Amino acid sequence: MAMRHWTGRLTSLRQVILHKQESYLVKKRFLHGRGSGRGKSRDTPNLIMEDKPVVDAHSLHKPVMVEEVLSFFAPQANQVYIDMTFGGGGHTQALMKCAPGITVYGLDRDPFAHQIAQKLSLHHKGQLCPLLGKFSEVKDLLSQREVSMVDGILIDAGCSSFQFDSPERGFALSQDGPLDMRMDANRIPSQPTAADVVNSLDHVTLTQILRTYGEESNAKKIAQAIIDYRTNFNTFSSTSELATVIACCHTHRDAKSNRDKLGRHAHTATKTFQALRIFVNNELNELAVAVEAAWDLMRPGGKLAVLTFHSLEDRVVKRSLQGRHVAERGTSLRQKRVESHKDNGAQKWEVVKRNELCADDEEINMNPRARSAKLRTAIAVNKFSSCISSDIQQILQKEGGQSQTYVQSTLHTRALLGEVLLLSLSN
Ligand SMILES: C[S@@+](CC[C@H](N)C(=O)[O-])C[C@H]1O[C@@H](n2cnc3c(N)ncnc32)[C@H](O)[C@@H]1O
Repeated sequence: MAMRHWTGRLTSLRQVILHKQESYLVKKRFLHGRGSGRGKSRDTPNLIMEDKPVVDAHSLHKPVMVEEVLSFFAPQANQVYIDMTFGGGGHTQALMKCAPGITVYGLDRDPFAHQIAQKLSLHHKGQLCPLLGKFSEVKDLLSQREVSMVDGILIDAGCSSFQFDSPERGFALSQDGPLDMRMDANRIPSQPTAADVVNSLDHVTLTQILRTYGEESNAKKIAQAIIDYRTNFNTFSSTSELATVIACCHTHRDAKSNRDKLGRHAHTATKTFQALRIFVNNELNELAVAVEAAWDLMRPGGKLAVLTFHSLEDRVVKRSLQGRHVAERGTSLRQKRVESHKDNGAQKWEVVKRNELCADDEEINMNPRARSAKLRTAIAVNKFSSCISSDIQQILQKEGGQSQTYVQSTLHTRALLGEVLLLSLSN
């Protein structure tokens, strides 16, 4: 099934869930006489004790392809970067060491990662500026700090190891915990948890989520098992409860032959957990927004590096860099040529290497997670003067001596990039 259909539908479904979730919680309160379900396990714990020093970043999350990322950025003294996925701060710390006076804005939606960034910033006064928020909030967060342009941006998609390693966050299959999976923890109280999703959605919708975001071939069967369990027994509240129900949908042979991308034995619920995590955190839409925001925040010629860990993420990044809609259906080669010719003037990114880079064997041996990493790099082009489309350039040439007001009004009536042109004229 094409991505366009499901992705579009699923985005609006997130809104629907917020409503459904309310009625589900009311029912739950009525049946069990309990609170809203947003109890103890959902409170954001104070994850870093005040009196403990910041732990070594590598013990929280081993950063991937650091050398490749740095050699692409080739950081110079006093440059400004955004690490859109601060995590344990491994990439940020490596960047700050590259040249004197480098400033990094370290964004993460996870309050725990933000606490790490805050602690680390005490040791790098003025060099590391922690930001708490999502990709979709980065432009606002930076404009509050009057930052409008940077030299480079890193996006290292997915989860940090400490998220998977904390059972209370509900990401892990290996350890029991509340079925949560919100990267934001309790930061946005209205955000549905994975439990809210499996406890409130119907069969068709659950199937779509598992198929689209988990690429799960047993999606229909698993969705039915979830509904049956809910109807006959109870609502889901823990990761082990869900994993057990999913395991029952697979034959013994399925379970034995199930392998992850690293060739390791994988639990039969792995794909369902991935799907729920992506859906709960709106990860693919956020990633597309991140690439868009990166271009807006980049100085002309600024550099973007994106690390992804599965094909869905990589597809979103590849398409975003090509200026194609992430949910677009497959396009024929001929059509692509026509479109690339047509859109030449508006292309935003010059992709540095056509094919993505992968980690080398040495790194994979030391960090198995690196095996599925793909690095895509691109340079922001067509910013300011070069982004003026060719017909506007002709007007400018013809009207060489005309006033700025004339050019402005021409642009206005044509509704073409007026703001950007003004900037180019004033520079
Ligand atoms: C793979 S880890 C980054 C690890 C980091 N590069 C390091 O060296 O430790 C991804 C991080 O990005 C954060 N993240 C994922 N999606 C995000 C989003 N939409 N907005 C902000 N942060 C996000 C996660 O919370 C997680 O901590």
